[in-house]
Amino acid sequence: MQLSNRLTRWQWAGLASLFVFAFFTVLQYRGSTGSDTISISAIPSLDRASKFHLLVPASGYHFRLCRALASATALGYPVAVLNGWMKEGDLDASKTHLAKVRTVMHYLDSLPPSSDDDLVLMIDGYDIVFQIPPDILIERYFAITKAATAKLASRFGPDYVESLTADDRPQQTILFGPEKVCYPVDWNRVGCWAVPQDIDIPAGAFGPEDGQLHHNLPRWLNSGTIMGPAKDMRLLFAATLDRISGHYDPNYEFSDSDQMYMSDVWGVQEFGRSIARHRQYFHDDMDPNAVVPGGVDGKVVPILLPGQRTEHHIGIDYRSALFQTRAGSDFILEMLTYNETAEGNGTTTTTATATFATVTQNITESPNFMPFKIPLPANLASSITRTLQLVEKAVGTIPSVTELRLETNIVTQNVYGLFHSTGGKDYIDKLWSQLWFFPYVRPLFLARIPLLKAGRPIVVADGRTWFPAHNLPSNVSESQGINATGAWADIDGGWLGWQELCGTFEAEVFDGFTPPMDD
Ligand SMILES: *[C@@H]1O[C@H](CO)[C@@H](O)[C@H](O)[C@H]1NC(C)=O
Ligand SMILES: *[C@@H]1O[C@H](CO)[C@@H](O)[C@H](O)[C@H]1NC(C)=O
Ligand SMILES: *[C@@H]1O[C@H](CO)[C@@H](O)[C@H](O)[C@H]1NC(C)=O
Ligand SMILES: *[C@@H]1O[C@H](CO)[C@@H](O)[C@H](O)[C@H]1NC(C)=O
Ligand SMILES: *[C@@H]1O[C@H](CO)[C@@H](O)[C@H](O)[C@H]1NC(C)=O
Repeated sequence: MQLSNRLTRWQWAGLASLFVFAFFTVLQYRGSTGSDTISISAIPSLDRASKFHLLVPASGYHFRLCRALASATALGYPVAVLNGWMKEGDLDASKTHLAKVRTVMHYLDSLPPSSDDDLVLMIDGYDIVFQIPPDILIERYFAITKAATAKLASRFGPDYVESLTADDRPQQTILFGPEKVCYPVDWNRVGCWAVPQDIDIPAGAFGPEDGQLHHNLPRWLNSGTIMGPAKDMRLLFAATLDRISGHYDPNYEFSDSDQMYMSDVWGVQEFGRSIARHRQYFHDDMDPNAVVPGGVDGKVVPILLPGQRTEHHIGIDYRSALFQTRAGSDFILEMLTYNETAEGNGTTTTTATATFATVTQNITESPNFMPFKIPLPANLASSITRTLQLVEKAVGTIPSVTELRLETNIVTQNVYGLFHSTGGKDYIDKLWSQLWFFPYVRPLFLARIPLLKAGRPIVVADGRTWFPAHNLPSNVSESQGINATGAWADIDGGWLGWQELCGTFEAEVFDGFTPPMDD
């Protein structure tokens, strides 16, 4: 695999712009304080460059894998690494879902300590497509995790938080997708009952509280999409492998569900947090059954050993800013066109440039329901516009962002980052040719080749410049057209060019042809 230590032209350009930024920051600092002494730490240094890794567990060929990779390439995600490609036995994802845990662990273990703060995004290979570009996904990741960490700090108080090491401190760095039911369903399981009660979305927001799955709040964990720093991801995957070795029961129907073990690691974390909070105020050793509510009679209560680490910095993207799962959510997803402007009658506070879409669906079944407007976030609008501009020369005229249809979660009001088709693939098969960038996938591929080859920076976020962890090989050229794209296989499997991976699925990818149902 190509893991170049050298900085490419674009990387230097990114760093140079950081230095210019730092220089002006220093000037402003001097100007505002009149001080002659400046802390050297105020100047971003070279190590403020970080990498973004895209991992896709996939063991073999499929048109849906090619659509996932095509959406990533078209939108400018780092070149993907396929985990477990053509592997066998324990590492074969078509035989066991646990292969995903093992093969991603191999990858994480191969990263040097200098990569600990890199960001890793892992997505299942066969039922996901991206909808928004990576710069916005990264910005949303930091906004959500920082807000959740601040909420945890106020829940536990600064003294408690400061008294712990960074690894043991309750905080959130890892985001999982949300799920509207605890799956595999077993209300004895800690990952089903010990989960947070308050998810900042009021009960009833998805419809009346009548126990129907699609009306539930999305309060459980889905393990098909995970994003977090390399070091914390490594600790999480290690804890999951531990959980598997301690709890694997070959006779249990769901014994090969990676989601079961991962959600139980999260359940134990939440259980541990609830116990810690109880001890903070009550200084006693109460029966955990009385301390942590939820679950059914006879539920399995974890036994925490002295010194056992339960904190893994895990949280859920409840609002689907990044990850939208399908099961139970079809009815709250709408393809909206953000083409309305605010009726500025002088009293509105919205900016003149904001555009909106109106929702008329009465999801809450409230008798007094009134249609409402969702604004299109400005950063998303400009990122989509920049993406379209890449192909303007090639295609002639490009649409305005206000003419596109963007699939939106109308309850949390997010144009979600990616779609994960849990519970049936018919939805994602229809979605593919509806995605806003579908008509431009081929020209976007061509426009991306020089950028993905050079490893051009994606965004500045969290005070760091984000570079793709993997680029196209240095020997590909634009003259090869779409054949210059592709993916890397594991840490040792080499380069898989587009022809090899997806050559037989071009009608599915570029023309939107969907073969008769095969699953
Ligand atoms: C906005 O988009 C919708 C859906 O495509 C369309 O029906 C409507 O006419 C558009 N409105 C304007 C003002 O362009
Ligand atoms: C402006 O719109 C607001 C909200 O619809 C309304 O309450 C207000 O009366 C309007 N003002 C004028 C001057 O029309
Ligand atoms: C919303 O839905 C509920 C239940 O279907 C219905 O009783 C109510 O009249 C609806 N309200 C509006 C304003 O459409
Ligand atoms: C990609 O490779 C295939 C197979 O070698 C070839 O038929 C096709 O013309 C190539 N496409 C381009 C744009 O070069
Ligand atoms: C281009 O580089 C890749 C990755 O290093 C390698 O697998 C491939 O064989 C090279 N292709 C050619 C034509 O040299």
